[in-house]
Amino acid sequence: MELLDYDIVIVGSGLAGMRAALAAARKSDKLRIALVSKLHAMRSHSVSAEGGISGVLYPGENGDSIELHAFDTIKGSDYLADQDAAELLVQEAPKEIRFFDHLGVPWNRDENGKIVLRPFGGMSVPRTAFAADKTGFFMLNALYDNLLSFKNVDIFHEHFVTSLILDGETFRGFFAIDLATGNYKVFATKAGIIATGGCGRVYGFTTTAYSSTGDGIAIAYKAGIPLKDMEFVQFHPTALVPSGILITEAARGEGGYLINSQGRRFMEDYAKSKMELAPRDIVSRAIISEINQGRGFVHQASGMSHVLLDLRHLGEDKIDERLPMIKEISLKMLGINPAKEPLPVRPATHFTMGGIHTNILGQVLINEDKPVKGLWAAGECGCVSVHGANRLGSNSLSQCVIWGRMTGEQAAQFALNNSLEKQNTAVVSKAEEEAKRIDALFSSDGSENPYQIRKEMWDTMDNLVYVYRTVEGLQKARQKIAELKARFSNVRLEDKTRVYNTNLRDVLELGNMLELAQVIVVCALNRKETRGAHAMVEYPNRDDKNFLKHTLAFRTPEEPRISYIPVKITKWQPQERKY
Ligand code: FUM
Repeated sequence: MELLDYDIVIVGSGLAGMRAALAAARKSDKLRIALVSKLHAMRSHSVSAEGGISGVLYPGENGDSIELHAFDTIKGSDYLADQDAAELLVQEAPKEIRFFDHLGVPWNRDENGKIVLRPFGGMSVPRTAFAADKTGFFMLNALYDNLLSFKNVDIFHEHFVTSLILDGETFRGFFAIDLATGNYKVFATKAGIIATGGCGRVYGFTTTAYSSTGDGIAIAYKAGIPLKDMEFVQFHPTALVPSGILITEAARGEGGYLINSQGRRFMEDYAKSKMELAPRDIVSRAIISEINQGRGFVHQASGMSHVLLDLRHLGEDKIDERLPMIKEISLKMLGINPAKEPLPVRPATHFTMGGIHTNILGQVLINEDKPVKGLWAAGECGCVSVHGANRLGSNSLSQCVIWGRMTGEQAAQFALNNSLEKQNTAVVSKAEEEAKRIDALFSSDGSENPYQIRKEMWDTMDNLVYVYRTVEGLQKARQKIAELKARFSNVRLEDKTRVYNTNLRDVLELGNMLELAQVIVVCALNRKETRGAHAMVEYPNRDDKNFLKHTLAFRTPEEPRISYIPVKITKWQPQERKY
């Protein structure tokens, strides 16, 4: 086991993690910073973000304002967002878009060189900046290029962090496996930032990468840190059938229609004024309602039901300019040119609104409101909460880079003010415990196939914890996940070698995902209302009297213990949500 020490360790190299590293590195060249990723850093899931980043670049234009962006975000959240956090998001977003302009992101511009903004769901006016439909790729690339010029940042590619080390209420470090060698490494550090993204892969049909297994959320939970609002899982309305690959909301922002089997733009029946650009929870429910009422299509090869996304009227030139990757994906995956034929789509898991409980600064909290000393969370893995029960499209990239920067700056200041306790006994003993847990997988002769368990978890979540949920379905899911967790304790590690052991990685990820699946299901069962992305058939209305509150889930040996904390309301009293 190798012991490394750093001033700051950031786990996760997507937009939040890299933005944090850059902010910390710019603060002082005296700080030694490690950026640790289970992938090659440039393969982080942010790289596949398509449609754009929100921010009011031109206040006054089209009647837009910072205040209107805040209101849209809060209304979109079904009034569960903490309003102080939403206000912070919208104030900081334009600065970040300009910062990325200076880093060299090739934003789409008009003939006068002005950054163009496109419409997105739930936004009152166009306010999403974009680089064609490859926005995440260009933003991540800009950060990575910049980071490489900092001598005080070490990037650990393909290092899988499996636990975080707490000493009471003080953060001490991370335990990781170097996937290339199988060796264990302990990162002892003054300050840590978790930025490992969401847990979309708890579901089988998802727009997220195979790597989106929620590891950072799970290791925090296992260390005793509460998770917030995990029942709110976003289903993106337009995932390509049957693969689940994202067809960006920008396709509808640029004018695409959703069509049922009667050839009708059915959104007229669900959101007359916003149509296809209603928020995602509403569009996803509309699609599933159409399918359930027999107005969908069936994809021959997979048997999956779907509706159609029609882009033909946009014309090939516009598709080539604004949506080139969508054309490429459709041609490669289905042999369909979207300028000539509509695309089969249905909702897929896309974003984790919940996550590690943090305050507005991104400090990780050990109980309702007490920060863990030296630990922050940023991006999708952290729940500030800025998106509440339903995130608006393109608000995630803003969130990632804003809280990435803020947590990077705070961690840097913290590290400059504090010294590292080198031979800390908690670090050594907790690292030894973790090494034993992983070694035990190599020596055990368990009989359960992890891929079979994963398949059953995916089927359970896809079928019982989807767009519409029922009490009976969630109860079945609760039982099934408990059964899978029990079977997982007898899991078989087939590959006993140490070098690039992807079987080991898969097993450890599965252990993390089962923890999170259980939290999602138990939190969902406890929320007896319909709010944002959590739609309960038996409780079809929002219930502000009983549920205008955030869920907290604390780990216990059986199931999470649930408690609630109030939502922060600044200016906007909850209203009926109509589009
Ligand atoms: O549809 C999209 O391009 C996704 C954007 C987002 O989730 O913010």
